Amino acid sequence: MPSRHFLSLLDFTGDELRALIAHAIDVKLKLEQGVSHTPLEGKLLAMIFEKSSTRTRVSFEAGMFQLGGHAIFMSPRDSHLGRGEPIEDSARVISSMVDGILIRTFGHDRVETLAHHSQVPVINGLSDLLHPCQLLADMQTWFERRGDIAGATVAWIGDGNNMCHSYINAAIRFGFNLCIACPSGHQADAELIQSGASSITIHDSAVSAANGADLVVTDVWASMGQEEELQQRVETFAAYQVSEEVMAAANDDALFMHCLPAHRGEEVTAKVLDSAQSVVWQEAENRLHAQKALLEFLIKPGID
Ligand code: CP
Ligand code: NVA
Repeated sequence: MPSRHFLSLLDFTGDELRALIAHAIDVKLKLEQGVSHTPLEGKLLAMIFEKSSTRTRVSFEAGMFQLGGHAIFMSPRDSHLGRGEPIEDSARVISSMVDGILIRTFGHDRVETLAHHSQVPVINGLSDLLHPCQLLADMQTWFERRGDIAGATVAWIGDGNNMCHSYINAAIRFGFNLCIACPSGHQADAELIQSGASSITIHDSAVSAANGADLVVTDVWASMGQEEELQQRVETFAAYQVSEEVMAAANDDALFMHCLPAHRGEEVTAKVLDSAQSVVWQEAENRLHAQKALLEFLIKPGID
């Protein structure tokens, strides 16, 4: 049977995603209670990082270890990926030796090519287009705090980037309303917006998007690979900062999320990031638990 991959949230059904989150909550409890859970004993995950990472690397490496397996870290600097060996050839070779491959890279086509030529499941650990693993953690965090997210209202404020795109996919799969406010010239991908049209409304200000929201989400103004644009972006995005005023427009019990790393004073004020409404630390920790559930789902189908 061909491998299942996780390149986008849309690779899984809404039921599969909900089952995965329920399992993530269960494996989190097991870890907290000190109950051993090692279904991936003897299994290997190769992790290709062509961009920097703190959370994704640590959570996948720790997760594989806790599940009884092992993770191999690879970077272009010390592998032939950085010396021009085609991704197709790398996929054939690496997948003949391991049970799963994680890739963090630039173009999404690179993730797709890797998956196409891999004999084992491929996980998108972030591309320029999407960041689906982060959404598993965000959704787990919401489910833990508030229950199912279907019917809730989420505000995305800032750049129409990979995280915004994955929120569009999440709105489709989980059935929530997504209010998006991005500065002109930095809107999310038009086709993606169209694909989620019935769940999405586009707003022309941060306060308008946040109005009546149950969850407010933002991300950095300059993603990895856009560092040289930062100065220009700081000016362009200034009116899209998630401030106390923006949070005041949201519902009183609204939560705030950010995939991190955050830049206090840019996309979010320190007061909001460090407020009681902010669940960013729980969100970051849940990368570990949600991805353990994902690894089990892909590498050992039939979650128990
Ligand atoms: N949120 C996230 O993916 O963090 P890292 O870039 O540190 O992996
Ligand atoms: N949008 C950010 C997310 C980092 C986790 C980036 O791609 O750099």
